[in-house]
Amino acid sequence: MPNITFVLPDENQVTVVANDGDSLMQTAVDNGIEQITADCGGCCSCATCHCYVTEAWKDKVDAPDEMETALIESAIENAQENSRLSCQIFITSELDGLVVEIPESDW
Ligand code: FES
Repeated sequence: MPNITFVLPDENQVTVVANDGDSLMQTAVDNGIEQITADCGGCCSCATCHCYVTEAWKDKVDAPDEMETALIESAIENAQENSRLSCQIFITSELDGLVVEIPESDW
Protein backbone atom coordinates (compact mmCIF):
# COMPACT_ATOMS: atom_id res chain seq x y z
CA MET A 1 0.00 0.00 0.00
CA PRO A 2 1.33 3.44 -0.88
CA ASN A 3 3.02 5.71 1.63
CA ILE A 4 1.89 9.32 1.55
CA THR A 5 3.63 12.18 3.33
CA PHE A 6 1.75 15.27 4.49
CA VAL A 7 3.86 18.33 5.25
CA LEU A 8 1.90 20.32 7.82
CA PRO A 9 1.79 24.12 8.04
CA ASP A 10 4.36 24.01 10.89
CA GLU A 11 6.59 21.96 8.55
CA ASN A 12 6.26 18.78 10.59
CA GLN A 13 5.83 15.78 8.33
CA VAL A 14 3.44 12.89 8.80
CA THR A 15 3.86 9.77 6.67
CA VAL A 16 0.92 7.39 6.53
CA VAL A 17 -0.03 4.21 4.72
CA ALA A 18 -2.91 4.80 2.29
CA ASN A 19 -5.45 2.42 0.82
CA ASP A 20 -5.59 2.06 -2.94
CA GLY A 21 -8.75 3.72 -4.23
CA ASP A 22 -9.23 6.04 -1.27
CA SER A 23 -9.06 9.75 -1.89
CA LEU A 24 -6.12 11.70 -0.57
CA MET A 25 -8.62 13.67 1.54
CA GLN A 26 -9.99 10.47 3.12
CA THR A 27 -6.45 9.33 3.83
CA ALA A 28 -5.74 12.62 5.61
CA VAL A 29 -8.96 12.54 7.63
CA ASP A 30 -8.50 8.88 8.59
CA ASN A 31 -5.03 9.71 9.88
CA GLY A 32 -5.99 12.73 11.95
CA ILE A 33 -4.66 15.46 9.68
CA GLU A 34 -6.83 18.14 11.27
CA GLN A 35 -6.07 20.87 8.75
CA ILE A 36 -8.07 18.94 6.14
CA THR A 37 -11.59 19.52 7.41
CA ALA A 38 -13.30 18.35 4.19
CA ASP A 39 -16.57 20.04 5.06
CA CYS A 40 -18.45 18.76 2.00
CA GLY A 41 -17.36 15.18 2.49
CA GLY A 42 -15.57 14.98 -0.83
CA CYS A 43 -18.14 16.19 -3.34
CA CYS A 44 -15.93 19.00 -4.65
CA SER A 45 -17.94 21.91 -3.29
CA CYS A 46 -16.11 23.31 -0.24
CA ALA A 47 -12.37 23.51 -1.00
CA THR A 48 -11.50 22.80 2.65
CA CYS A 49 -9.33 19.90 1.49
CA HIS A 50 -6.86 22.14 -0.31
CA CYS A 51 -3.26 20.99 -0.59
CA TYR A 52 -0.20 21.66 -2.71
CA VAL A 53 1.30 18.79 -4.68
CA THR A 54 5.08 19.05 -4.41
CA GLU A 55 7.11 19.73 -7.55
CA ALA A 56 8.45 16.19 -7.93
CA TRP A 57 4.91 14.80 -7.98
CA LYS A 58 2.86 17.27 -9.94
CA ASP A 59 3.21 15.40 -13.26
CA LYS A 60 2.44 12.04 -11.66
CA VAL A 61 -0.92 13.06 -10.25
CA ASP A 62 -3.85 13.18 -12.68
CA ALA A 63 -4.70 16.71 -13.77
CA PRO A 64 -7.68 18.43 -12.12
CA ASP A 65 -10.96 18.46 -14.01
CA GLU A 66 -12.90 21.61 -14.87
CA MET A 67 -15.03 21.55 -11.73
CA GLU A 68 -12.03 21.26 -9.42
CA THR A 69 -10.13 23.97 -11.26
CA ALA A 70 -13.11 26.33 -11.06
CA LEU A 71 -13.52 25.76 -7.33
CA ILE A 72 -9.82 26.29 -6.65
CA GLU A 73 -9.89 29.56 -8.60
CA SER A 74 -13.05 30.85 -6.97
CA ALA A 75 -12.62 29.72 -3.37
CA ILE A 76 -8.92 29.68 -2.51
CA GLU A 77 -7.18 32.95 -1.92
CA ASN A 78 -3.66 31.54 -1.77
CA ALA A 79 -4.07 29.20 -4.74
CA GLN A 80 -0.94 28.28 -6.65
CA GLU A 81 -0.31 26.43 -9.88
CA ASN A 82 0.17 23.21 -7.85
CA SER A 83 -2.99 23.67 -5.77
CA ARG A 84 -5.27 20.65 -5.66
CA LEU A 85 -8.35 19.53 -3.81
CA SER A 86 -7.30 16.37 -2.03
CA CYS A 87 -10.76 14.82 -2.38
CA GLN A 88 -10.18 14.70 -6.13
CA ILE A 89 -6.89 12.77 -5.99
CA PHE A 90 -7.28 9.02 -5.70
CA ILE A 91 -4.58 6.76 -4.36
CA THR A 92 -2.92 4.27 -6.68
CA SER A 93 0.29 2.32 -6.34
CA GLU A 94 1.93 4.87 -8.67
CA LEU A 95 1.51 7.46 -5.94
CA ASP A 96 3.67 5.55 -3.44
CA GLY A 97 5.92 8.21 -1.89
CA LEU A 98 3.66 11.16 -2.77
CA VAL A 99 4.40 14.31 -0.78
CA VAL A 100 1.80 17.04 -0.41
CA GLU A 101 1.90 20.25 1.59
CA ILE A 102 -1.03 21.40 3.66
CA PRO A 103 -1.36 25.19 3.77
CA GLU A 104 -2.44 27.28 6.72
CA SER A 105 -6.20 27.26 6.79
CA ASP A 106 -7.80 29.19 3.96
CA TRP A 107 -10.88 29.78 6.10
S1 FES B 1 -13.76 17.88 0.62
FE1 FES B 1 -14.96 19.52 -0.09
S2 FES B 1 -13.99 20.07 -1.96
FE2 FES B 1 -12.79 18.43 -1.21
